[in-house]
Amino acid sequence: MCGIVGYIGSKSALNILLEGLTNLEYRGYDSAGVAVSVNGQVELYKAEGKLQNLKDVVALKKEHVEKSTIGIGHIRWATHGAPTTVNAHPHSCNCGKVAVVHNGIIENYKELRERLEKNGCTFRSQTDTETVAHLVASKFAQTKDLTEAVRLATKEIEGAYALCVIHQDVKDTIVATRRNAPLLVGIGENEYYLASDVPAIIQHTKKAMYIDDNQIVTLTPNSMKYIDANKNILEPKIEHLPWEPVALSKMGYKHFMLKEIHEQPDVVRNVLSGKLRAMDENITLNEVTLNKDKLKELNRIQIVACGTSLHAAMIGKYIIEDFCGIPVDVEPASEFIYRRTITDEKTLVIGVSQSGETADTITAVRQAKALGSHILIVTNRPDSTMAREADSLIPVNAGIEVSVAATKSYMAQVLSFYLLAIYMAEVKGKNNLEKLKHELIILPQKIEEILAHKEEIQACAKKFANSKDFIFIARGINFPTALEGALKLKEISYINATGYTAGELKHGPIAMLDESMPVLSILMLGKVYEKILSNSEEAKARNARMIALTNSTDKKLEDLFESIIRVPEVDEMLSPALAIVPLQLLAYYIAEFLGKDVDQPRNLAKSVTVE
Ligand code: AGP
Repeated sequence: MCGIVGYIGSKSALNILLEGLTNLEYRGYDSAGVAVSVNGQVELYKAEGKLQNLKDVVALKKEHVEKSTIGIGHIRWATHGAPTTVNAHPHSCNCGKVAVVHNGIIENYKELRERLEKNGCTFRSQTDTETVAHLVASKFAQTKDLTEAVRLATKEIEGAYALCVIHQDVKDTIVATRRNAPLLVGIGENEYYLASDVPAIIQHTKKAMYIDDNQIVTLTPNSMKYIDANKNILEPKIEHLPWEPVALSKMGYKHFMLKEIHEQPDVVRNVLSGKLRAMDENITLNEVTLNKDKLKELNRIQIVACGTSLHAAMIGKYIIEDFCGIPVDVEPASEFIYRRTITDEKTLVIGVSQSGETADTITAVRQAKALGSHILIVTNRPDSTMAREADSLIPVNAGIEVSVAATKSYMAQVLSFYLLAIYMAEVKGKNNLEKLKHELIILPQKIEEILAHKEEIQACAKKFANSKDFIFIARGINFPTALEGALKLKEISYINATGYTAGELKHGPIAMLDESMPVLSILMLGKVYEKILSNSEEAKARNARMIALTNSTDKKLEDLFESIIRVPEVDEMLSPALAIVPLQLLAYYIAEFLGKDVDQPRNLAKSVTVE
């Protein structure tokens, strides 16, 4: 969603801000802006649409703007007010001396706006953020101290925010604060950076400090003052950022999504490394501080997640119930938070999130924590807000994922659930999982085999790219695979795609079948293979265009299916980890064939930080 970058030091701020915003583009946005201080004047530059539009605006005054050594920048994903230039951040006050960038939502902005308007403030935009600019300006008029003005303003603000503020009358200073939205300070030599996420600054410094809720940082080129909401001075906790700038390069691939799909064999190796050593050794999960006695006491597991992470969680339910006999409920976090939920100290609540910043999932785990449940977080971002809520943490180690459509992080989440389920089963005394462990160890080679034949999937994509709709069917453990395959396709190609359990087809969706409807059957050998095959016959009898994704070598399939995508043989329980790869590629190639913006699909954001 929105992104923040700030810089104060001796270099030209403009290039650092634009480069930082470019590295946050993947998060999804619809306008952009920067505020810089040039010759003692705060100047705002904004543009709707892609960052290039902002670059074109500043290019007109490049020599002038480049003189600035202090600035704040923002990419906005519209929530309050349309994605227009006037609604783009930074926002300012009546006299134009303040500039504010903001991630999050000011929930009481209507009351604040009414009050500020009565006091003479003139609003230019429809945003919630503009109230902060006017509020800070009015507090500054009283205190003549920017840090204090920000502190007093935040006492009146309800909601979530990461804020960076500059003021024309306070030279060479940026004040930053946050509540329920991430913000970090990057530390250089006589310079500081601010960012809502690591990629914005990682090419400049690996030394950083995460700001916590309600803390305020005041930066000058040579100093950092760090206080809490009651003005107590805090000791900065400096960390080393475990990221490499190279992770942000496409490494020769046309899109990040394609690169990330290809990284999956190594992602699997990473996830398993140090945890699954040999098929005859028990799984070790050092990260799981959930003690073994507590695990034995559990009578229920509740998993909360959204989108792709929800599909990984559904596979988690299937395998944990199968291996451990513990009942598992999975619910979209956005539903879980608006009803009475029955979780207690005997319930393990697992939050799953690639970004660790999804607002609905954060709220869900906080609600469960308040009811006494142990919170286990499965995330790709151990530095995220959600990870900080965890009693136990499983970092999934997929590496930074840039494409909005999640691929390798899904693979890492699914693999983490296999490890967790086997670990829990072994704690409960189950010991017949050698075959599955062996299959896990050889999984990367099988994924590599699929990637080596990607041209066949590309050909299939070309054949079906002009379809208006798509149906994916599966049963059992691959039902979430059908949902995830359909989600991938609709996210990046905008084709209306739906996943169904194959058995449900005849209870309604079959009415939609005709010669224009592709039906992709996920036909993995095992318990439900024959059942899905007969559901596929039913679809074929209604003239649907049939595609099989299968590990069967049965020649008869050629009579039933127009296209067959083959994957290597695999244990049915592990088949979701293999079956998803061709579906990711199919979605990718269809979107690419249709000329869509694969890495930054319309209306989507990489992390959804609003409920
Ligand atoms: C995945 O392709 C999507 N972009 C989206 O569904 C995503 O999985 C969802 O928003 C949850 O995000 P999270 O894993 O970061 O919590």
